[in-house]
Amino acid sequence: MQIHRTTKPLVESIEKIKKEDKSIGFVPTMGCLHEGHLSLIRKACKDTDWVVASIFVNPIQFGPKEDFKKYPRDFKRDIELCRINGVDGVFMPQTKSIYEKGFSSFVNVENITDRLCGESRPGHFRGVTTVVTKLFNIVQPDIAYFGQKDAQQAIVIKKMVEELSMPVKIEVAPIVREKDGLAMSSRNAYLTKNERKKALTLYRSLQMAKTLFKKGERDSRAIIHAMRQLIHAEPGIKIEYISIVDTQELSFVRRISGEVLVAVAVWIGKTRLIDNAILETRKVRKERG
Ligand code: PAF
Repeated sequence: MQIHRTTKPLVESIEKIKKEDKSIGFVPTMGCLHEGHLSLIRKACKDTDWVVASIFVNPIQFGPKEDFKKYPRDFKRDIELCRINGVDGVFMPQTKSIYEKGFSSFVNVENITDRLCGESRPGHFRGVTTVVTKLFNIVQPDIAYFGQKDAQQAIVIKKMVEELSMPVKIEVAPIVREKDGLAMSSRNAYLTKNERKKALTLYRSLQMAKTLFKKGERDSRAIIHAMRQLIHAEPGIKIEYISIVDTQELSFVRRISGEVLVAVAVWIGKTRLIDNAILETRKVRKERG
């Protein structure tokens, strides 16, 4: 497995791979790899000939009061996990080689980045789309892999790729959960034992949304109300938002039909957690005759 800390040798390897007519899969990460990331890596290894994983804690997607400094980092372990899971090239650039002195070019997807997480994290998605664009330009992947856990991020990136005609296919893989349902996240490492227990409420609230939906509830406000009540019953959780939105523009959907995203963000102590689920009304086929 190749490990590159600067751009030039990686680009040289990529050029060689491209000349051999091999396809390139790309899994961008901020490290502290867990099963969620590994599922993306494994999928990339199945689908493509040469897999690159990047490990880069991107400073420009964190707000000034956010957790950039304390974001969990374990590069040695990450490298080993990449190796075991079949990555061909790890890209671990230093900040100064991604954002050279005087860096002033940014990529921004408007409107949908102001909603949900974008409301409380201004500039976050601009940081994500900028770094992802830069990484795409370096790695030139045929397919890039993202997790459904960061549903809004995946939607924003898909929109960016489509609108800016970027020559890459975006694959979004399902959320990977712990046995008890907690969605895997690098930020779970911040939780105390007690907070970890509380965090399960997030999953339970989404399960409740699914149950209500299965029973025929189509009024978003009723589902959100029930979710709120369930979360409020657990002391020590602050709801940032619970939203039911369409999966293209992320606009609030009052009456559910087709496919919607139920997205939740909460604070448990100093840790911000997000989770989501898709609800979909069955397409009713018109019977002939
Ligand atoms: O999802 C992440 O880990 C990050 O937002 C990404 C896509 C690697 C960009 O820094």
